[in-house]
Amino acid sequence: MHYIEDFSKYEGQEITFKGWVANKRESKTNIFLVVRDGTGFCQAVLSLDVLGEETFEVAKSLTRETSLEIVGNVVKDERQIGGYELQASSIKVHHIAKEYPIKYLEQEHGVKFLADHRHLWLRSRRQWAIMRVRNEIIMSIHDFFQQNGFVQTDAPLLTGNACEGTTDLFETDFFGVPAYLSQSGQLYAEAMAMALGKVYTFGPTFRSEKSDTPRHLSEFWMIEPEMAFYDLDMDMDLIEAFIKHVINRVLKNRKVELDTLGRDVSKLENVNQDFPRITYTEAVKVLQGKSEVNGRNAITVQEEDLAAAKQAIVDLTATIEANEKEMKAGVKKGKRNYLTAQNDKFKQEIKVHEESIRNIPKWIASAQNFKDGEDFGGSDETVLTRVFDAPVMVYNWPTKIKAFYMKEVEGDPNFVKGVDLLAPDGYGEIVGGSERESDLEILSRKIKEHDLSLDDFQWYVDLRIFGSVPHSGFGLGLERIVRWVCGLNHLRETIPFQRRYGRKLVP
Ligand code: 4AD
Ligand code: MG
Repeated sequence: MHYIEDFSKYEGQEITFKGWVANKRESKTNIFLVVRDGTGFCQAVLSLDVLGEETFEVAKSLTRETSLEIVGNVVKDERQIGGYELQASSIKVHHIAKEYPIKYLEQEHGVKFLADHRHLWLRSRRQWAIMRVRNEIIMSIHDFFQQNGFVQTDAPLLTGNACEGTTDLFETDFFGVPAYLSQSGQLYAEAMAMALGKVYTFGPTFRSEKSDTPRHLSEFWMIEPEMAFYDLDMDMDLIEAFIKHVINRVLKNRKVELDTLGRDVSKLENVNQDFPRITYTEAVKVLQGKSEVNGRNAITVQEEDLAAAKQAIVDLTATIEANEKEMKAGVKKGKRNYLTAQNDKFKQEIKVHEESIRNIPKWIASAQNFKDGEDFGGSDETVLTRVFDAPVMVYNWPTKIKAFYMKEVEGDPNFVKGVDLLAPDGYGEIVGGSERESDLEILSRKIKEHDLSLDDFQWYVDLRIFGSVPHSGFGLGLERIVRWVCGLNHLRETIPFQRRYGRKLVP
């Protein structure tokens, strides 16, 4: 068996392909298939001359998603997907698929239809690319930590207490005692860091927040490193090195997939700059337009974006009209197809600009009216990060809006040593971390202030009784980084089977 991914090694050789028909086109004497085998997509040519009439008849009956084997020659052809073509000398059909519900260009379907057919939708080319990027990100995370002396440890998923606040816990039953699905492995990671120094967990987490937004899942995967003897600055250095490593490895190894997704990789290459670090208080001023970043004012930039969107619609409309006029005057079939496809693309672009025109005035109002001391909303993160090219770290947050375990800023208990990493271009928060409160008295007081039971947390407080040390950590949302890297407008495509507020558990 030979995989498409390895075709460059088999150039000019006869190989056996095993996979599925993704698409089909035919002429009188040739059938052109797009075939896929999980490792890639490629064109296969089945010709009457080579196969003979009987087999050619069988080839004509192939439907999309039919499973088959093809013996054939691998020929270099730059114009084809993947750069190679398979010229069939014989075929063996495994199973002729029934009429397949999903079009080759999945974008022609609505979101709900695709979600309802997720078990099949995963076979589409874009989804294939996303899952391969997800895998690359997972592997790059492990190699970063493994190369840097971290031990991977696992936190339990059934827990007796809350880590990130009690409001969004999924409750379940543990032999008659209430239990909760874990929101975060952090508290356990802290215990393990006191045993092993530098650790990370990598597991599913659950939040029952009723948020139907592009950034929220009810079940998502989180990576949580925790390091003994690290302060907030060291934590931020680690976040920066870690994100740079992950993005650069994906850029190096997943070119084909990023290209399939149409991702503008120059935006991702910006991670190689230093990540700006600003305090929450500075960030608020930038957001409100009261302070500038490298001569850029967040509000002015939004106003410019709004004007640019309006102008783009005027220009695109003019181009569409000109193309239509040209077609009316009479053009050849090839040119007509080309112009029609162009116009369809431009109409999609107009929709995106129309959405910006609807959103930006609301975003500006929200940014200008932002109340110091509150948490940033999704649009605030978009407005704030728009003035930076690289991801930005916002640190020293108001104590009121952050979790109980964050360490107070020395001499200013209204702020804690938390940090959020915000990705550029509207992708928002992808990492949340902090230095942990290591003082027994302060931690005990904060547990009480947050209405949590000291009894439940005694084991966690113990870590401050037996050799307490400064320590820090952070959590990366796997689906959030997959979304950013792939340039997707929603988290639903970043995970094989989404679990999300407002969506049933099927498939
Ligand atoms: O900021 P969060 O809530 O931080 C924690 O859970 C800490 N205990 C982490 C730590 O310090 N060890 O969540 C961390 C990250 C967020 O930055 C975001 O990327 C992701 O988890 N995340 C979600 N991803 C998808 N859907 C949701 N509902 C998410 N909530 C958080
Ligand atoms: Mg957070």
